Amino acid sequence: MNSLARHALHRPAPPVLLDLCPTPDDLRGDVIAGLSSDPKTLPSKYFYDARGSQLFEEITRQPEYDLTRTEIALLQASMRDIREAVGAEAHVVEYGSGSGRKTQLLLGGLDSAVAYTPVEISREMLLESTQRLAYAFPEVQMLPVCADFTRPVPIPPPLQPAARRLAFFPGSTLGNFDEAASVELLAAMRETIGDDGRALIGIDLLKDVAEMEAAYNDAAGVTAAFTLNLLARINREAGADFDRRRFAHRAVFSPERSRIETSIVSRCAQVVHVAGQAFHLDAGEPIHVEISHKYTDAHFDALAAAAGLRVAHRWNAPADRFGLRLLEPA
Ligand code: AVJ
Repeated sequence: MNSLARHALHRPAPPVLLDLCPTPDDLRGDVIAGLSSDPKTLPSKYFYDARGSQLFEEITRQPEYDLTRTEIALLQASMRDIREAVGAEAHVVEYGSGSGRKTQLLLGGLDSAVAYTPVEISREMLLESTQRLAYAFPEVQMLPVCADFTRPVPIPPPLQPAARRLAFFPGSTLGNFDEAASVELLAAMRETIGDDGRALIGIDLLKDVAEMEAAYNDAAGVTAAFTLNLLARINREAGADFDRRRFAHRAVFSPERSRIETSIVSRCAQVVHVAGQAFHLDAGEPIHVEISHKYTDAHFDALAAAAGLRVAHRWNAPADRFGLRLLEPA
């Protein structure tokens, strides 16, 4: 065999997925730990099973929950500026892969993006979203990475070298992390993008309390169904016996902490079992399930600064209903 043929034979297949084998979530362990703590908690990351993801999509169509629609419109309206600020030939790194609508706008709007790396802990969601985008953007190299994005992520180098990395973290998902975890996440992102990287972050802004609370208490009850679906998932996957009729959804704005706090409230005194372990709940006792921060500029700038980043550009939707921030290393 001549050397050319040998070379062709041994040419590596194009990279499909960099799998950092993140340890799978321990749902049962997390549920038992959460119900053993005082106050009781359950992690909101478990909302998104198949039914939960479907219900979340439905939330984004409710009149009271305008966050997603407002962000998409803002992204469209700001795209020329974003394109200018980010520059040509960026490698886009998205944190968590969503429905893909915002990603399409970004990849289509940037000046010749060279590569796209969704970072996602679920292999299934990762491959699905990458495949859809690969058809829409044949000129953008798809380099998905299966990893936990709360830690720094090694980014595979594209065949065509990129001018810089752009982390993309839309949806105000940052708001679901507490202060310490937010700073940790932003610091990991700063590490991942490198010294000349940028990060484009979507944040929901502090507004009228009644409007913020309505967004998490829609009249059709979709958010309540979304929250209580967590109990159905826990019954199924952790061998529990929650009776969802004995629980209620509650979402209230805390002005002290500038966030919506969502809990599942026990309607009566009762005992629930998880994998054979019994947990007592008082009538009216809440199980804390989710926080959704609502930011002021001062608040967000402080988080960024604590992570070694500074706000280089800010774009707000009309009436300051939602914000996009472009961060650079400080
Ligand atoms: C888009 C994940 C940030 O907190 O507003 C929507 C999730 N929870 N309604 C948010 C959610 C209840 C949402 N995130």
